[in-house]
Amino acid sequence: MPLVPTQELFAVTPLAAGAFNTVLLEQLEAILAGATRAGLPVIVQISENAVAYRGALAPLAAAARTAIEAAGIPAALHLDHATRPDLIEEAVACGFTSVMYDGAHLPWAENIARTREITGRCHRRGVFVEAELGEVGGKDGAHAPGVRTDPGEAARFVAETGVDALAVAVGSSHRMTERTAAIDLELVRALRAAVPVPLVLHGSSGVDDATLAAVVRAGMRKINMSTLLNTVFTGAARDSLESAPETVDPRTYLRPAREAMADRVARLLTLLNSSPAPPAVP
Ligand code: G3H
Ligand code: ZN
Repeated sequence: MPLVPTQELFAVTPLAAGAFNTVLLEQLEAILAGATRAGLPVIVQISENAVAYRGALAPLAAAARTAIEAAGIPAALHLDHATRPDLIEEAVACGFTSVMYDGAHLPWAENIARTREITGRCHRRGVFVEAELGEVGGKDGAHAPGVRTDPGEAARFVAETGVDALAVAVGSSHRMTERTAAIDLELVRALRAAVPVPLVLHGSSGVDDATLAAVVRAGMRKINMSTLLNTVFTGAARDSLESAPETVDPRTYLRPAREAMADRVARLLTLLNSSPAPPAVP
């Protein structure tokens, strides 16, 4: 199936789009296998940090485009947490259907000016833009999880920048390995009422299943998740290596890692798009 423009992906997603990060080819395969198993659309994300790890954007981006075209479900390709305008340009040239410009660390006026300029450039190429206001706690240890996005400011930010989706701070925090985040559902509802574009939850790994379902019911439309899937992937690889320490072929431990991640992706997508939600997974 061809790559789907991110705007269209929202249109064909029943309730909320799962947006999952990949660093490795096996994780990319797991995301698409899980979505196919669930029969639901998915957003594949490559972050600026993943590009730094790989040393280049193009090889993983090309693999993602090719794998998406071979998949049987609609999928979009998103550049996550980009702070570098040149990387956004490169992503647009590589065929990404959306980008997140992360100017949340900038003062208000500068965040608006830069986001507006990048949004204009992306829109001329038909690329959907997500931005962030009120930094989601925990990213690089820079901000506390107590940060909250004000609904009035969020509405002004969207009006002044023209962005297509907005990441908001409502209590989640990046890179949590326990699912204990307390989400301000009242604030999600207030933001939903004030903001005319899809709301995005970052740091969703720290949010348990029941709260994820409630967050979607409250109006969140894109759920970004990475750490939980890394935990599942690495845990399965670790189990495999511990049970067979003589292993030398990477396929021996990457196969169960990929399978475990695909299974969790399928369950997450089903959870995000079921009403009422299926039984919770710890
Ligand atoms: O942008 C990506 C996400 O916000 C992932 O956060 O690793 O805490 O799930 P997480
Ligand atoms: Zn994030």
